[in-house]
Amino acid sequence: MPLIETRDVSHSFDYPLFNDINFSLGESDSMSITGVSGSGKSTLMHICSTMLKPNSGSVQLFGEDIYSLSQKELIKTRREKIGIIFQAHYLFRGLSAYENIELATILTKNSIDQELLEKFKIQKVMKQKIGELSGGQQQRVSIARVLTKRPKIIFADEPTGNLDEKTANEVMDILFEYIKEVKGVLFLVTHEKSLAKRCKYSKNLSLKGLI
Ligand SMILES: Nc1ncnc2c1ncn2[C@@H]1O[C@H](COP(=O)(O)OP(=O)(O)OP(=O)(O)O)[C@@H](O)[C@H]1O
Ligand SMILES: [Mg+2]
Repeated sequence: MPLIETRDVSHSFDYPLFNDINFSLGESDSMSITGVSGSGKSTLMHICSTMLKPNSGSVQLFGEDIYSLSQKELIKTRREKIGIIFQAHYLFRGLSAYENIELATILTKNSIDQELLEKFKIQKVMKQKIGELSGGQQQRVSIARVLTKRPKIIFADEPTGNLDEKTANEVMDILFEYIKEVKGVLFLVTHEKSLAKRCKYSKNLSLKGLI
């Protein structure tokens, strides 16, 4: 059974963004989406990750048509089964890095993985407030927070946008390793061609669709 499958997904805001997006990803698959700014990459990711109902078409996660679920069921799927790394990382600025990650564990009852914090090289800044961290450190905290929930599908929108090449590759290594370990799926939006190529499938989004 695919973990994620779209059928004829089309969406427009003021103007049409994309038509008839069809793809299917299963255990340990990864797919990258590139495309010019404004082509709708983040929008497609939001549609696939329970955040936005498309104008037409359907999205199945774990075999369920997500936009025919009740709001309560939809929120449960979002909280427990998927992890979303947003383009702008939404951390609570008044809280410390540790408290931000701890929040993710409260709902899912997971514990914080110290090894993960070390891999991300953020263990030393855990006590600092988010406002005191560099952009790249904040980005790694937000990715660690998502992985702490142990989701089966990871949606990542420019997860390495704030990072230098070496750190970006290290963070991607962790994401790929994670997907393999949990037999999950990585849906990656990126502008970096070299990162895009590391995925099993690399697609470009334009008005013509996902090619
Ligand atoms: N909620 C919204 N209401 C109206 N228009 C929107 C909304 N969200 C996005 N758009 C428009 O849809 C288009 C695609 O936006 P989107 O953020 O998906 O692009 P993107 O490919 O992720 O771009 P970037 O590479 O710059 O992140 C843009 O023109 C944007 O202004
Ligand atoms: Mg975007």
